[in-house]
Amino acid sequence: MAWQQYRCNLVWNGAVFGALYLGLFMDIRDRIVVVTGAAGGIGRALCQAFSDQNAKHVICADRDSAGAEETAHMIGGTAVTVDVADENQIKTLIDTTEASIGPIDIFCSNAGVLVEGGADALDAEWQRLWDINVMAHVWAARHVVPRMADRGSGYLLNTASAAGLLNQIGSAPYGVTKHAAVGLAEWLAITHGDAGIKVSVLCPQAVRTAMTEGHEDHVAAIDGMLEPEDAARACITAIQNETFLVLPHANVLKYMQLKAADYDRWIAGMQKLNRTYSTSSWV
Ligand SMILES: NC(=O)c1ccc[n+]([C@@H]2O[C@H](COP(=O)([O-])OP(=O)(O)OC[C@H]3O[C@@H](n4cnc5c(N)ncnc54)[C@H](O)[C@@H]3O)[C@@H](O)[C@H]2O)c1
Repeated sequence: MAWQQYRCNLVWNGAVFGALYLGLFMDIRDRIVVVTGAAGGIGRALCQAFSDQNAKHVICADRDSAGAEETAHMIGGTAVTVDVADENQIKTLIDTTEASIGPIDIFCSNAGVLVEGGADALDAEWQRLWDINVMAHVWAARHVVPRMADRGSGYLLNTASAAGLLNQIGSAPYGVTKHAAVGLAEWLAITHGDAGIKVSVLCPQAVRTAMTEGHEDHVAAIDGMLEPEDAARACITAIQNETFLVLPHANVLKYMQLKAADYDRWIAGMQKLNRTYSTSSWV
């Protein structure tokens, strides 16, 4: 290892150790956490992981009331029925949680949906994905960030996807909205970091959930399908270390680097994948 790299590692390790020692990194114990899309899949695994880390209280929000109840029952949390495509319902979730349980420390905008299709997808479908995959994150930030900023601390965990970095074969609405979700998360981190608000964005490839059921051979699973618990564990580590980009599939970083190094070559590679996989349906 070159001396410079060695010195850099020493400084970094020292900084991490010092920050942990001084309690500067996020400790999940005793935190109040809200998770949307909590009725199953990654959201349920996140609720369980926060509970395992001794969070003070986990609010399990989903439009699927029965699923949210089931998750809440598993961990002794609170179930809330919320349609994140409606700003008022997100505002009420935040207002009610803060009034009845306490200040929200960590807000996870995790609910998300996928639809097949290109530019020809119906406007209503584009709008539905735009509202759930992007605007729900905007609305959560709109109503929770000022409260967190007043308190001088808070954490946003936004679930995007590797599709937000590398696009999605077979679904323009998903690829586009997930790129927007990544862009928003970056903007929030840049703009509100000085106010003590930290942001992480989760960008996995395939995870075994209702969303991927029956599509285990799809291109998104090309590097293997993780379990929701793997994704949740990666999020917990990222929050504890206050790391922005959460990549449970290590190859995603390599693909991002290839994309940045030679965009045209990356497009050609994606075209090849598209030829191979465009006949298999995603949803
Ligand atoms: N499974 C994967 O391979 C994968 C990969 C990358 C990113 N993601 C993202 O992870 C997140 C979680 O997805 P998942 O894989 O656990 O799928 P899932 O379908 O198991 O869970 C999604 C949850 O979101 C809820 N939801 C959907 N629309 C909602 C709305 N309008 N209001 C409230 N709740 C709503 C659903 O009821 C469901 O419980 C999504 O944002 C998804 O895009 C998933």
